[in-house]
Amino acid sequence: MDENGVIVIIIGESYSGGYKSVITRYEMMLLESGVEIIGKSPWIKSNSTPVILKDFFRPVDETILVCKMKGAKVNFNPKMKKTKEGKKMVKKSHKAKDGTNRFFVQAEETVVSNVIITPVVNDSEYKKYDPDFTHDAPAPMDVYQQFVESYTLPGMTCIDIFCGAGQGLEVFARNGCNAIGVDIDPVSVEFCNKRMNMVLGERTESELQQALIIESEDRLTAAA
Ligand SMILES: C[S@@+](CC[C@H](N)C(=O)[O-])C[C@H]1O[C@@H](n2cnc3c(N)ncnc32)[C@H](O)[C@@H]1O
Repeated sequence: MDENGVIVIIIGESYSGGYKSVITRYEMMLLESGVEIIGKSPWIKSNSTPVILKDFFRPVDETILVCKMKGAKVNFNPKMKKTKEGKKMVKKSHKAKDGTNRFFVQAEETVVSNVIITPVVNDSEYKKYDPDFTHDAPAPMDVYQQFVESYTLPGMTCIDIFCGAGQGLEVFARNGCNAIGVDIDPVSVEFCNKRMNMVLGERTESELQQALIIESEDRLTAAA
């Protein structure tokens, strides 16, 4: 791993036979092994089916931990979103004690928050590459997008060590990154290969130009 890279971990709590504090214990394990946790995002699945556990509500969230090695200098360009009106506007803020109105200039864009709210994955995100392939726990591409957009630059290499349906791999490639996927399930690996060949085959001219630049830079590095 690049010493200045980040590690993004998506982890769900376990309530099997009672609350297991899996996330808390995992965080402690990371800290004890010298990994620094930069931040934590709750991922709320907005359309999860409400089913009641034995004596608790059905959890509809997972936790995303963003980590780095101690001392690493992380490249962070936070994902932005358009403000409601999508343009710079003077807006009324509040009334001051002296009765005068206070105003502020609202920017065109604002940084996204750490809370991610998405529907559970839409199967069509991966089924369009092979309608017969199924995966029981793919993550929505939007979840990957927030972190890839904020922590990578084109030409960087991203690895998904539990790549499953290849949701992350496609996002890496579409953001101009080199993508490496690992999965214990050979069917998923075969599917990811097929998906990536199709994704790379449909890349736009500017993305391909980027790929060519990366390739020639690699050759220069190798030759140096
Ligand atoms: C929750 S899914 C991840 C899905 C993926 N994030 C996506 O969006 O498609 C977990 C994946 O990890 C894989 N897996 C489980 N144990 C593994 C191991 N020891 N090494 C590599 N992959 C493993 C499973 O086959 C499964 O595809």
